[in-house]
Amino acid sequence: MTGHDVHVVRNEGSIDLVTVVVSLVPAGFDRRIDADATVAGMERAFERVTEHWSPKVIGRVNDQYLKVAKVQGEFVWHQHDDEDELFLVVCGSFRVEFRDRVVALSAGEFVIVPRGIEHRTVADDEVHVLIFEPAATRNTGNVEHATLTAPIGDRV
Ligand code: NI
Repeated sequence: MTGHDVHVVRNEGSIDLVTVVVSLVPAGFDRRIDADATVAGMERAFERVTEHWSPKVIGRVNDQYLKVAKVQGEFVWHQHDDEDELFLVVCGSFRVEFRDRVVALSAGEFVIVPRGIEHRTVADDEVHVLIFEPAATRNTGNVEHATLTAPIGDRV
């Protein structure tokens, strides 16, 4: 069963129905991202992330993707013309820099970057971040970067 199949079931029935159906399918990636979006699941997901600045999809909520990323250092300045993006810090300290201010975040804090606003993310030490944004959002937004632009839709 694929994640898409699970979404179809969800549209037709209740949450209880989804839970029952999902519990019947073999353990696998799509079952995990749709049915096991727990703190424990996130920890396992972060364990599988091996590169910095390369968000990996762990779930989908309607048209939004839930992604995990490990980041360290300075990202490239960019903006997303049509998408807001949410960064929630799971572990570590993190900054989202705008041209006119800096937002410093600790674990448990989040910021929503409005569409069209130039920004870059910075972490002095490695930080674990949960990102919530539309499926098609490119991590470097309007910028094509040789090493920092990550594939869209990669999963852990
Ligand atoms: Ni961005």
